[in-house]
Amino acid sequence: MNSYFILALFFYSVLIQLSSQKAVDASDPTDGFISLPLNSSNFDIQRPYNVPVGHRYSFIHGIHRLWVFSTDKPHSLTSKTSARTEIRIRGYDYSSGVWQFEGYGYVPKGTSGVCIMQLFGASQHATTLMMRVYNGSLSYYRAPILVPHIYNRWFRLNVIHDIGAKKVKVFIDGILKFETDDRGGPSHYFKCGVYAQNDDSYYMESRWKGIKVLKKRD
Ligand SMILES: *[C@@H]1O[C@H](CO)[C@@H](O)[C@H](O)[C@H]1NC(C)=O
Ligand SMILES: *[C@@H]1O[C@H](CO)[C@@H](O)[C@H](O)[C@H]1NC(C)=O
Repeated sequence: MNSYFILALFFYSVLIQLSSQKAVDASDPTDGFISLPLNSSNFDIQRPYNVPVGHRYSFIHGIHRLWVFSTDKPHSLTSKTSARTEIRIRGYDYSSGVWQFEGYGYVPKGTSGVCIMQLFGASQHATTLMMRVYNGSLSYYRAPILVPHIYNRWFRLNVIHDIGAKKVKVFIDGILKFETDDRGGPSHYFKCGVYAQNDDSYYMESRWKGIKVLKKRD
């Protein structure tokens, strides 16, 4: 009788462990966050100032497609930055709290030397985070590489910025790939698209769908 009881207890504890393991596997970077309302007024398209928006951006069947050429002009007459076509998220600049960007991205083969997503604002730099593509790898700035083979497939990107903890986390396809300190700064916002960096390819493109801005519940 006693040994049956111990056996039952053993199987019960195995069951508990299995179910808690399942709960861990089912966790999602967006757990505990609320998705904030977005409409077209939140999507400010920055593109070379001398071309119509439709020559560098399309939005068809829910997919934002952004492209730029290395020889393109900056996004304004006064800017001295490299060529870009980017969605600048408006209406959700933040300076406190825990914020998250979610989007499904796609980078066609050949696009290289480019920033495809950034967390703007820092103290000594312009940005807190840049997700870049070099030769088919997705990296945090130039390093480290977070995904070695990123071309020609949809991937899910979640970036969490915790201002209080001064931390940034990057999830690819729901898995935590990278965590680092943030870089300070009074105000931040999210961008995605293509922004030429060093060793840029002549043609650069990224596609985005399911873009969300989320904020942690208080
Ligand atoms: C977007 O939402 C804002 C506030 O929620 C509203 O004021 C604005 O009219 C909306 N714009 C469009 C284009 O739907
Ligand atoms: C990408 O490939 C080119 C050509 O092979 C090479 O010159 C360049 O250094 C590579 N860049 C990186 C960041 O690996």
